[in-house]
Amino acid sequence: MTTRTFRIAAIPADGVGEEVVAAGRAVLDALAEGSGGAFGFAWEEFPWGARHYAETGRMMDEDGLERLRPFDAIYFGAVGWPTVPDHVSLWGLRLAICQGFDQWANIRPVHFLPGVRSPLRSADDHELDWVVVRENSEGEYAGLGGRNLAARGPGGEVAVQSSLFTEVGCERIIRFAFELARTRSRRKLSSVTKSNAQQYGMVLWDEVFRRVAAEYPDVETESVLVDAMSAKFVLRPEDLSVVVASNLHADILSDLGSALAGSLGLAASANLNPERRFPSMFEPVHGSAPDIAGLGRANPIGAVGSAALMLDHLGLPAEAARLHRAIAATTAAGVLTRDVGGTAGTEEVTDALIGALGTYGTLDG
Ligand SMILES: NC(=O)c1ccc[n+]([C@@H]2O[C@H](COP(=O)([O-])OP(=O)(O)OC[C@H]3O[C@@H](n4cnc5c(N)ncnc54)[C@H](O)[C@@H]3O)[C@@H](O)[C@H]2O)c1
Repeated sequence: MTTRTFRIAAIPADGVGEEVVAAGRAVLDALAEGSGGAFGFAWEEFPWGARHYAETGRMMDEDGLERLRPFDAIYFGAVGWPTVPDHVSLWGLRLAICQGFDQWANIRPVHFLPGVRSPLRSADDHELDWVVVRENSEGEYAGLGGRNLAARGPGGEVAVQSSLFTEVGCERIIRFAFELARTRSRRKLSSVTKSNAQQYGMVLWDEVFRRVAAEYPDVETESVLVDAMSAKFVLRPEDLSVVVASNLHADILSDLGSALAGSLGLAASANLNPERRFPSMFEPVHGSAPDIAGLGRANPIGAVGSAALMLDHLGLPAEAARLHRAIAATTAAGVLTRDVGGTAGTEEVTDALIGALGTYGTLDG
């Protein structure tokens, strides 16, 4: 008999999202099966995405959030397909869930794996490992603005896209990042803005950062402009531990981080509602990769790493650690997809991950 059953809503959505969610589910089910009944997953899959849009005119059903709300967590693939404008697909599904469930903290670890070559020279001499903490509810993705004056004729339209920075929003993400920094061997938090050019919202962010920092004297801090931070990711990555930034800046920096770790296909993320009023959502950082969708070539490691973040959130840290070890064992053994220089397909990597789980005993990891 299973002692604890977690209800998980799976939303594979589009393109390689379907392939990597299937891989992640297989790995999680294997983990549960090996737990000797200690825990299990009850999955419900929602067929939302570009196909659903073609059939119904909506990316997800109108009562989608209500139906997702009772779940313990949401396991998401990737959204977007050439048949639907990207802003429609993103706002109609992923952002609708993130905003609707106030998942204001987006955690994106940049994790370097054995057997995966980094384009960074310094990766040969240093142990590199940092986490990007992204403000996930406001900033540049607040969705405020509009388009008007199209009646002026061709070339006459205007668009306004406003960023929103609230003191509450800045403070909660900065505080979250400080707390995370405290759990790491290097207690350091880097705050990223572009406050020299954006003199309202980002200056407010900088001021909140300085105010909250005073409460964490044990954490080393720095404030870095986003352009300088992108250079630092490449030139001095060994100096990073936790990096906190706005919605747009952290989105871009985390893709840079995952490319430096070897591939976008490796990067995991968690969209958290830390107060647990709503379910949190776990998804690989990458998109739907239409160029390789359906070919069985997608790297499932980003999705499986996201499953590990989900296990942590569900209160299974030993199982999460076990999953991380299985990932490292798989890459170290050279079972790699093409994006990281190998020849294996999604299924082969998934089988290797499941096989590696077996090598690491049961619950105590
Ligand atoms: N979170 C999301 O759902 C999300 C994120 C980014 C982009 N998108 C959407 O995805 C679609 C494609 O966007 P894009 O091409 O800019 O970004 P993408 O992440 O889909 O692809 C960028 C590159 O990375 C490769 N890649 C991505 N995931 C991979 C994996 N698991 N294994 C191996 N290679 C992988 C792709 O083949 C491609 O060459 C668009 O519709 C976009 O809006 C969605």
